[in-house]
Amino acid sequence: MNAAVVYFSRTGNTKKFAQAIADATNAPMFELSTADASKIANVDLLIFGTPVEGASPTKEALTYITSLPVVTGKKAILFCTYKLFGNERAMKVIEKELVSRGYEVILKVSKKGMKTEQLADFSEVISKLKAVLYIRDGKV
Ligand SMILES: Cc1cc2nc3c(=O)[nH]c(=O)nc-3n(C[C@H](O)[C@H](O)[C@H](O)COP(=O)(O)O)c2cc1C
Repeated sequence: MNAAVVYFSRTGNTKKFAQAIADATNAPMFELSTADASKIANVDLLIFGTPVEGASPTKEALTYITSLPVVTGKKAILFCTYKLFGNERAMKVIEKELVSRGYEVILKVSKKGMKTEQLADFSEVISKLKAVLYIRDGKV
């Protein structure tokens, strides 16, 4: 399955999460301003991440998602980082937009309380991700 990790990160936390997912799946990783929507619409599995801001996805993330064309037979995994609350709501907002564009959202994972200056342990969320993906030869 061809996959891509697309993320927005304001202060680096979500970028670290994106990197951990890219490392675990061997999928290429793109900051959203470099991820051409028409090309991304061709990948079978979109792995999309945003920080939570105001219990919502960032405006940048939402603008990107709403720029995607309608697709058929594509899947998505959503991830977010947050400090305290609003992760479920934020991912629901993205999920709704993706579903209306034809995506099936197969997993939502979030990481709470990251500190920009510290290393983070993503092992738990990466296991969840691997559990829903069939990873062969280190490739999704
Ligand atoms: C403007 C702003 C609003 C935020 N709102 C929330 C929020 O509603 N809930 C929450 O848990 N964290 C909130 N946060 C914290 C971020 O979600 C958290 O620090 C996140 O890991 C940042 O990711 P990034 O480093 O990729 O930008 C907010 C941060 C900012 C800057």
